Amino acid sequence: MKKDFIALTDFSSDELTGMLDLADRIKQSPQEFENALKGKTLGLIFNKKSTRTRISFQVGIFQLGGMGLFLGPEDMQLARGETISDTGKVLSRFLDGIMIRTFSHSDVLDLAKYASVPVINGLTDFNHPCQALADMMTIREKFGKLEGLKLAYVGDSNNVAVSLLFACVKFGLHISLVSPKGYTITKEALDMSREEAESKHLNIILTENVQEGVAGADIVYTDVWTSMGQEKEQQQRLNDLSGYTVNEQMMKGAGPKAVFMHCLPAHRGEEVSAPVIDGPASIVFDQAENRLHLQKAVMVSLMQ
Ligand code: CP
Ligand code: NVA
Repeated sequence: MKKDFIALTDFSSDELTGMLDLADRIKQSPQEFENALKGKTLGLIFNKKSTRTRISFQVGIFQLGGMGLFLGPEDMQLARGETISDTGKVLSRFLDGIMIRTFSHSDVLDLAKYASVPVINGLTDFNHPCQALADMMTIREKFGKLEGLKLAYVGDSNNVAVSLLFACVKFGLHISLVSPKGYTITKEALDMSREEAESKHLNIILTENVQEGVAGADIVYTDVWTSMGQEKEQQQRLNDLSGYTVNEQMMKGAGPKAVFMHCLPAHRGEEVSAPVIDGPASIVFDQAENRLHLQKAVMVSLMQ
């Protein structure tokens, strides 16, 4: 049975830990895996822009002995109305896997339903699982563990926040989501994680209060205030989120060894101040690098 990678809630904690362990091995000795996907092809459908996801997947599949095919928004008949179901069935006759970045999460679910090859979610308006799993790899490298840590996510509780919530619950981290009214996490995401969080005695704190939210945090995480597709709301978002910039003052309120994380791209002076993202607590470029290693592990797990 093929397995897709669409949301972290589709996997057990053990399965996800297995992927982190594999990613660590791939990072340590990439040469061991240079033929792992020899001759295999991954289609990369991008309906939104990307720097990290596109390049790390293309380089990653190449380093595993396979080939990536970039399929931009105007490249396929999808742009002229061909259905997702026909596209999924046809691509499955040519490819060994499909990565898709798009707007509607249901399009990814549909593609996975009709494709007979694994589908990897490279970001939707709902979530961003590759990012959050790579972030867990980075946190484990820095702290030597995951369980019991506290992650404070500050700003717009968007697609990245949703996947971080799912990841925290899977790996035993407490999470506080610090957002003003109108920018809180979706009820759907909370409902998907509440039961498992309760059974593991994990705190999921939703608060508007920055001081309360970041107190004692090991990780302070933020993301852009205006995600792709929300450009028309930009001015309103700048106004509404103005008190939520992660700055040095806010970092002082977190734990003494707190690290700063951001999935990138970043907007200095909006969701984060330059001294924080460019300062000693920032691990944002390690996060970016680990996208490569972690996604290689995902591809090996799904496509071998
Ligand atoms: N973090 C992330 O997914 O970056 P890109 O949008 O550049 O792929
Ligand atoms: N929340 C951002 C993440 C980009 C990687 C967006 O969806 O645009």
